Amino acid sequence: MATLSFSLPFASELNGALRRVPVWSVYLAGVLPLAWILWLLAEGGLGIDPVKEIEQRLGKIGLQLIVAGLAVTPLRRFAGLNLLRFRRAIGVLAFCYVVLHLAAWVVLDMALLWSQALGDIVKRPYLTLGMAAFALLVPLAATSNNWALRRLGGMRWRVLHRLVYPAAVLGGVHYLWLVKAWPPEPFVYLGAILALLALRLGR
Ligand code: HEM
Repeated sequence: MATLSFSLPFASELNGALRRVPVWSVYLAGVLPLAWILWLLAEGGLGIDPVKEIEQRLGKIGLQLIVAGLAVTPLRRFAGLNLLRFRRAIGVLAFCYVVLHLAAWVVLDMALLWSQALGDIVKRPYLTLGMAAFALLVPLAATSNNWALRRLGGMRWRVLHRLVYPAAVLGGVHYLWLVKAWPPEPFVYLGAILALLALRLGR
């Protein structure tokens, strides 16, 4: 089957420059938003409800990184931009932010009241969806290392890592479900996720 592919005008120069970017610099850049949140917290710059603000910011960054990870393959296919080297770092960072988002909710919001937290997860659909998304990301994070890749073999590893597709959709719906008054932002995220997944269907 013929595949549709394009290249950005300076894709090969850009790819050459990207090859010189060490992967650790992506991890370093990924820590900056967290450092920014902590700085704002120390400065009292998180508004009247810092707990909600921390929770929301961490969730938003987690979702943005999930979208960024989903964009890697289409960017290579349709723009000739090769970011594959950075995909694992993007995925690991996404998981870390989702864990921090969940931790902020359990520790700061629910004050470690586990039975109440579990009750809320069951009762509130947006939390059920968020938890389902998180649960799907756990095996991906656990196998995001060379040892797991060797143990599973490339084919099974790739199939397992397709769990990121439903996880992304659930994360997007979780966001859409919790907002009131239909602001455009969650629609943009969910639309981007669905569009990025649709781009894979043509393969
Ligand atoms: C892949 C997993 C997840 C993603 C991508 C995600 C993403 C998000 C996003 C984007 C927001 C909205 C931020 C904003 O309003 O600016 C949010 C809010 C929230 N999420 Fe998550 N989330 C995930 C999992 C979870 C889990 C597991 C829980 C807890 C069980 C959770 C609890 C919350 C809460 C309490 C809020 C704030 C609701 C409010 O504003 O009142 N999320 N999440």
